[in-house]
Amino acid sequence: MRAFLGIGLPAGVREAIASATAKVRGLHAPVAWTAPKNLHITLNFLGEILPERVPLVERLMRVVASGIGPFSLTAEGGGAFPGTRNPRVLWVGFLEPLELVRQLQQNMENALSGAGFPREDRPFHSHITVGRTRGALPPAWGERFVQALSGKGFGVVPVSSFTLYESRLGPGGAVYTPQCDFRLEGPCTREIREEKEP
Ligand code: 2AM
Repeated sequence: MRAFLGIGLPAGVREAIASATAKVRGLHAPVAWTAPKNLHITLNFLGEILPERVPLVERLMRVVASGIGPFSLTAEGGGAFPGTRNPRVLWVGFLEPLELVRQLQQNMENALSGAGFPREDRPFHSHITVGRTRGALPPAWGERFVQALSGKGFGVVPVSSFTLYESRLGPGGAVYTPQCDFRLEGPCTREIREEKEP
């Protein structure tokens, strides 16, 4: 099973991102845009794992989840990996403070690598992937994308759990199916703000 650990987003945040990116999506650049229902924060990509390893991952993640309390993230602005001049991944980012999500990801990676899962080969940068380039983009397109999202807020993501997802790749795009939710049961460190109604 192809799997990853991540954080799902409230519908309001997914809709705000979809509407803020509607204009650039309409420019018909060679970009595979993430379907709004698929927008998420990846914490750890496990890749192909044997089904018999899933209970071990679940045990480890329950321990990780017991050590961190609920927190919230505020989605705002955007950027590109590896950079705006040569964008391959287009993303929406988050405002500081990011210590808790970093701590969660670090604890997850430590637990998984202790059980023999390979460590991520790139540093963690919390983001929501909104598109992936599929060919050469017009000049300054990355800058345009970042400008279109600059200073735009997409709402609060209350993080009270994280999820193990199965990812099936198919001709119609990826299908992510939640397999197990892990409630954050550590001490509360920050009040979770509810998403405001528009
Ligand atoms: P990202 O787009 O947020 O970076 C589900 O496929 C998620 O796992 C993707 O959204 C992607 O996260 C991450 N992912 C997919 N393939 C990956 C790979 N080969 N290495 C690391 N992360 C990957």
